[in-house]
Amino acid sequence: EGTPIPPQLQWSFHGPFGMFDRAQLQRGFKVYREVCSSCHGLSYVAFRNLSEPGGPEFSEAQVRALAAEYTIKDGPNDAGDMFDRPGRPADRFPSPFANDNAAAAANGGKAPPDLSLMAKARTYERGFPWFIIDMFTQFAETGPDYLVALLNGYKEPPAGFTVPEGGHYNEYFPGHIIAMPKPLSDGQVEYPKLESGQPQVPETVDQYARDLTAFLMWTAEPHLEARKRLGLQVILFLILLSGLLYFTKKKVWARVG
Ligand code: HEM
Repeated sequence: EGTPIPPQLQWSFHGPFGMFDRAQLQRGFKVYREVCSSCHGLSYVAFRNLSEPGGPEFSEAQVRALAAEYTIKDGPNDAGDMFDRPGRPADRFPSPFANDNAAAAANGGKAPPDLSLMAKARTYERGFPWFIIDMFTQFAETGPDYLVALLNGYKEPPAGFTVPEGGHYNEYFPGHIIAMPKPLSDGQVEYPKLESGQPQVPETVDQYARDLTAFLMWTAEPHLEARKRLGLQVILFLILLSGLLYFTKKKVWARVG
């Protein structure tokens, strides 16, 4: 049985005017922290990045408090020993396992991959004739669509499909047998509440998956907003320049023919 095509979703960071939704990034970080971080590292991200413009934009005080909740291995000190100390904003997220071997040993032989670049590391292809169109339209969103589909993709295996020990059936994982157990369930992560007492957005697997994925898109491309802004400015400048050059040319060649 083949792997289905992940549904194409709407993302706030899609297209030339795309921006991240700060509240969504903050919720996604909460999901990462409370659920995924027990197995997956985020080793390219430093705590201080969480307060930089273009990201979740937590306050610097929030980031200092957050970093201090982590224990960082440092050293060697003057005596040549390694020691533990509370985290600082400049530290990166500590990995949940000492190394890949320890990570694999704790997860039935498969190390949970680092999630920093995951939103851009995974993709899918829709085959002929879509790939011709997708080449022009799907620059950055195939990875996020796959991640949401994967996190929603835990199902009962079809009749006759045997899932080996330590494996889990997932509709969207290539080969369908994934070592990661279903990580999310409805109501698992508490979201910020509106004044009415209702959560900002539904506390469901699908919503967690989208928020977490938007957060991972930011970790994979922290300068997305600046890049898109500069791109627009460059295009506007080139349009203006083309107009000026056109009239310059008219003027310079006015007396010829
Ligand atoms: C693999 C995301 C929680 C263990 C993966 C992959 C992603 C992912 C994107 C790569 C899939 C691929 O190769 O295409 C997440 C997210 C989580 C989460 C977003 C939180 C919501 C967990 C937890 C555990 C875990 C809590 C451990 C109990 C693994 C393992 C793999 C994996 C062992 C390797 C699977 C394989 O290659 O068969 N995860 N994960 N994950 N994850 Fe997670």
